[in-house]
Amino acid sequence: MNRLFTAEIVRNDPMDNGYFALQVTPDVEISEPDIGQFFMIKTGESIDPLLLRPFSFVDFIPPNDKYPNGSLMFLIGAVGKGTNILKHLAVGMRLSVIGPLGQGFPPVASDEILFIVAGGIGIASVLGLTNVNPNTPFFYGVRTKELIPDMVWFNYTGINTFTTSDDGSIGFAGSVLELLEKQVSEFKRGCGGKIKIYACGPNGMYRAMAGMNLDADVYVSLETPMACGIGTCLGCAVDTVNGLKMVCKDGPVFNLKDIIWDG
Ligand SMILES: Cc1cc2nc3c(=O)[nH]c(=O)nc-3n(C[C@H](O)[C@H](O)[C@H](O)COP(=O)(O)OP(=O)(O)OC[C@H]3O[C@@H](n4cnc5c(N)ncnc54)[C@H](O)[C@@H]3O)c2cc1C
Ligand code: FES
Repeated sequence: MNRLFTAEIVRNDPMDNGYFALQVTPDVEISEPDIGQFFMIKTGESIDPLLLRPFSFVDFIPPNDKYPNGSLMFLIGAVGKGTNILKHLAVGMRLSVIGPLGQGFPPVASDEILFIVAGGIGIASVLGLTNVNPNTPFFYGVRTKELIPDMVWFNYTGINTFTTSDDGSIGFAGSVLELLEKQVSEFKRGCGGKIKIYACGPNGMYRAMAGMNLDADVYVSLETPMACGIGTCLGCAVDTVNGLKMVCKDGPVFNLKDIIWDG
């Protein structure tokens, strides 16, 4: 159920590279979000910016003695007005939040092998998936080493990560898709099972994936700017083979083959 609620900031930790880790605890019980769903968050008390901003959650910690309504963790890049205000809000402040919203990633069938791909801040939407099976190959591409957020904060360990960087400062030097393509074809040559890929990154990465012959079922999480987040303003429409769809309500996760990029 989507609902408007207030949530108290219990942690707000800036990192050196423009990211910050935000943890909030809702004032009411909320439904447990699916991975790939998101929340609209008011970034401060001022009317500017007026609109709430969309953020994927990295983790939902179920209700416990400390937080009777559980808590939500976010990894956010400070890129503009709203996120830069949010980054400086103090612990104890309350935020207006709507969610969980949208449709998350579909389940992985027992005969499928999951590969996860993240480009830049896209890591926030898919990091929770690595909890499903710590051995899941996780392809993470950044422009340069300094742009990797501090994962210590999120308590994710044992992830089978393949890091790539455009400038070669960490991991494989080159595009994350180049490495993904190599690993997928190696896997196909090896055991030849069915592959499902979940990806979150910039649209350019998705367009490139749409042009590749990956022989896999690929789902992507679209990050279109959003005004309402609940399907009423029609501001986040995307053209698909099934007609115009709202990223906030019908997505943000879509089957890559359904998206019409030049429509
Ligand atoms: C479903 C969804 C989940 C998201 N999850 C996360 C997340 O987990 N962590 C995170 O850091 N960011 C996430 N984003 C992106 C985040 O919503 C934007 O970065 C944020 O709204 C920018 O707000 P601002 O007021 O700081 O920037 P603004 O001042 O509004 O804009 C600053 C710049 O960012 C661009 N921008 C604004 N909104 C978006 C957007 N949605 N996507 C791409 N560029 C945008 C603007 O064009 C402008 O260039 C998500 C977006 C969507 C749609
Ligand atoms: S953001 Fe308003 S319809 Fe999607």
